[in-house]
Amino acid sequence: MLRGTLLCAVLGLLRAQPFPCPPACKCVFRDAAQCSGGDVARISALGLPTNLTHILLFGMGRGVLQSHSFSGMTVLQRLMISDSHISAVAPGTFNDLIKLKTLRLSRNKITHLPGALLDKMVLLEQLFLDHNALRGIDQNMFQKLVNLQELALNQNQLDFLPASLFTNLENLKLLDLSGNNLTHLPKGLLGAQAKLERLLLHSNRLVSLDSGLLNSLGALTELQFHRNHIRSIAPGAFDRLPNLSSLTLSRNHLAFLPSALFLHSHNLTLLTLFENPLAELPGVLFGEMGGLQELWLNRTQLRTLPAAAFRNLSRLRSLGVTLSPRLSALPQGAFQGLGELQVLALHSNGLTALPDGLLRGLGKLRQVSLRRNRLRALPRALFRNLSSLESVQLDHNQLETLPGDVFGALPRLTEVLLGHNSWRCDCGLGVQAMITVIIVFAMIKIGQLFRKLIRERALG
Ligand SMILES: *[C@@H]1O[C@H](CO)[C@@H](O)[C@H](O)[C@H]1NC(C)=O
Ligand SMILES: *[C@@H]1O[C@H](CO)[C@@H](O)[C@H](O)[C@H]1NC(C)=O
Ligand SMILES: *[C@@H]1O[C@H](CO)[C@@H](O)[C@H](O)[C@H]1NC(C)=O
Ligand SMILES: *[C@@H]1O[C@H](CO)[C@@H](O)[C@H](O)[C@H]1NC(C)=O
Ligand SMILES: *[C@@H]1O[C@H](CO)[C@@H](O)[C@H](O)[C@H]1NC(C)=O
Ligand SMILES: *[C@@H]1O[C@H](CO)[C@@H](O)[C@H](O)[C@H]1NC(C)=O
Ligand SMILES: *[C@@H]1O[C@H](CO)[C@@H](O)[C@H](O)[C@H]1NC(C)=O
Repeated sequence: MLRGTLLCAVLGLLRAQPFPCPPACKCVFRDAAQCSGGDVARISALGLPTNLTHILLFGMGRGVLQSHSFSGMTVLQRLMISDSHISAVAPGTFNDLIKLKTLRLSRNKITHLPGALLDKMVLLEQLFLDHNALRGIDQNMFQKLVNLQELALNQNQLDFLPASLFTNLENLKLLDLSGNNLTHLPKGLLGAQAKLERLLLHSNRLVSLDSGLLNSLGALTELQFHRNHIRSIAPGAFDRLPNLSSLTLSRNHLAFLPSALFLHSHNLTLLTLFENPLAELPGVLFGEMGGLQELWLNRTQLRTLPAAAFRNLSRLRSLGVTLSPRLSALPQGAFQGLGELQVLALHSNGLTALPDGLLRGLGKLRQVSLRRNRLRALPRALFRNLSSLESVQLDHNQLETLPGDVFGALPRLTEVLLGHNSWRCDCGLGVQAMITVIIVFAMIKIGQLFRKLIRERALG
């Protein structure tokens, strides 16, 4: 968003009022120039005035950014050369840019940057090197950038980061390393980032989150680790992140989670764990999270759930444990404490039976999906007292009969799906199943009719 705002601000400046300008450029404002096309290697031939504060170059042809491209531009504050085909930058190219606050080299073809390239930019606040072909970074590359707040290195080919790379970046608020080829993060890499708010590491090849890695990041609010190859997370990995509100761990290789992993993550409003081969959940995993409303555990290898696993997630409105073919049984109290739950998705698992108190206490529940399991029977009291229940999906199971009053006293029920079951029928035509369905719907419809009549009467 900030980048967009920045670009708009620059374009706004460019549009302001005209002044004389190099032929290939537009210079609608006296301090700013915008040029497109042309040759990266011949930027100095554009004849840009040295007293510009903003330069925006894009759509330039393949080439090396030459060392004299910006000589004498000691008042330049924002330099953006993006969506071009820069393949390399000569040493010293930015040596005169001592006032620069923003440098954007996004969407080029840069594979390597010379070590001391940024050493004169002590005022730099934003550095965007994303969408290039960087394979490595010199360990001293950022050592002078003590004012840097945003660093984007995403969508490159980095497979290794030196441990001391970020040591002097104490003011960093955003670090985007997503879309690289990182397998490990060295110990101490993030030791100086006490002000970091957003750390994006998704879409890499990380295999573990080691102990202590995140311990200095007390200000962190957003942490993205989805789409990696993470197999292990150190116990307590997130314990020092009191302000964390968004944590993504979906689409990794996690089979186990350490006990109490999220016990101190009280401010989480988004937590993703889906599409991990989780084989079991620890008995204690979540602490109280007043802001978490949704949790999906789909495509896991879970066989069951611990009793009261979600008890601390008292504000949860939607819970899905789906697409887990090994999930064959659930304990009595599996969903205990979920008094705000409205949607419970348990479809496409291997459930063969359910305990009769499974849904007890879920007074706000509106939808239950149990379709595509292997249920042979339902306990009589399964839906008892669920006065908010509107929809029950039981199709694609192996049900033979239903207890006669299983849908009794459910004032809001309007949908029951029962197709594709093994209804037991002595007359060989599925008549009993059809009759069951018809009776259920008749009961529902009659109930609705009565309520409508009563309402109409009450209205006079
Ligand atoms: C920048 O330099 C040009 C001459 O090269 C001059 O006309 C212009 O006024 C200068 N602009 C500022 C803001 O000093
Ligand atoms: C990422 O690293 C793997 C080896 O770890 C390598 O085979 C692959 O080519 C790399 N991909 C890129 C885009 O560099
Ligand atoms: C956590 O957030 C609060 C409120 O935004 C802020 O005052 C506090 O400094 C933050 N904690 C840390 C360790 O940054
Ligand atoms: C995080 O939660 C704590 C209480 O556990 C609270 O004091 C703090 O203000 C919260 N931070 C944010 C940013 O909401
Ligand atoms: C719920 O959170 C408390 C701490 O707030 C913890 O002691 C307890 O073990 C947690 N219970 C479960 C079932 O996770
Ligand atoms: C799992 O759930 C998430 C969140 O609802 C969803 O984005 C994802 O597509 C689901 N995965 C599968 C395989 O259905
Ligand atoms: C239904 O609610 C009544 C009254 O609150 C209670 O006595 C009964 O045990 C509940 N039944 C079930 C199956 O939860």
